[in-house]
Amino acid sequence: MTFQELATRVSHRNTGKACNDTIADQLLQRVSADENLHMIFYRDVSAAGFDIAPNQAMHSLHKVLTNFKMPGYTIPDFRRKAVVIAAGGVYDPRIHLDDVVMPVLKKWRIFEREDFTGKAARQRDELGTLVEELEDACDKFEVAKRRRLERLASMAEKRAAKNLVASSAS
Ligand SMILES: [Fe+2]
Repeated sequence: MTFQELATRVSHRNTGKACNDTIADQLLQRVSADENLHMIFYRDVSAAGFDIAPNQAMHSLHKVLTNFKMPGYTIPDFRRKAVVIAAGGVYDPRIHLDDVVMPVLKKWRIFEREDFTGKAARQRDELGTLVEELEDACDKFEVAKRRRLERLASMAEKRAAKNLVASSAS
């Protein structure tokens, strides 16, 4: 829940900016501020969980992060929409890692605390690997995004050239 609430906080905020409209931006800032309060509630309850039962809390954290899905992922055609959302700067792998996953892991001191044992200690190490994999995914996504933008730009250029030819012919 902590990650989802933070993800919605960040994406609503970025949607506001992307709208380029003062009212929409203010509205989404307000929604985003609420999401932040939801996030803080779950984050602090979970922090207490890590202090009371660190191993159990790690089992849950591991399960959540290895299966993370954005709210709304059941919407038909969500994958294609996610690409548009990412290209618009609303939510993408880099934002997911830097603004959602890492701040929470730091707050819970996941890689500093020494109270995980057995399976939970292995899961902590696996999360370290997962973070590296997410880094990789960010780099790959950046390349794909750049290609997509270049493709869109060259399509627009071709269209403009065609229009120019058409208008000079008439
Ligand atoms: Fe929420």
